[in-house]
Amino acid sequence: MKVLITGDHAGLTLRNEVADLMDEMGIEYEDAGASCATSVDYPDYALPAAERIANGEFDRGIFICGTGIGMSIAANKVKGIRCALVHDVFSARATREHNNSNVLAMGERVIGPSLGREIAKVWLETEFQGDRHAKRIEKIHSYEDK
Ligand code: RB5
Repeated sequence: MKVLITGDHAGLTLRNEVADLMDEMGIEYEDAGASCATSVDYPDYALPAAERIANGEFDRGIFICGTGIGMSIAANKVKGIRCALVHDVFSARATREHNNSNVLAMGERVIGPSLGREIAKVWLETEFQGDRHAKRIEKIHSYEDK
């Protein structure tokens, strides 16, 4: 699995935590996010990163900003992206099992680094359940093609 992580200035600390986790898990990743605390615009990071996932260059993404909201709104504008904004472990597991989410968004100003790390770990490890859930996702992607 290849993972693209990105984010703005407001997500830098949690993004570094997630990068450490990926190193520990032995997961191949690229960090395309803002590298310092200077204020930037989250769509400039979310949109190109989402396109690189949608075109198959990466399997999944983890996008982090202050709330996770801006990154998730922008990511979900890109065809083929199923970005889930998650701040609890139950939802991290459920969105992989039911929604086959290919992008996880989190907000550094919402949760602490330990919870963020746990959410990312569960999300990375959980498989999609398919079956009835696949049919529902197909309905979303059919709508994208209208
Ligand atoms: C930046 O101040 C903040 O607005 C951004 O990180 C994010 O929370 C937007 O949704």
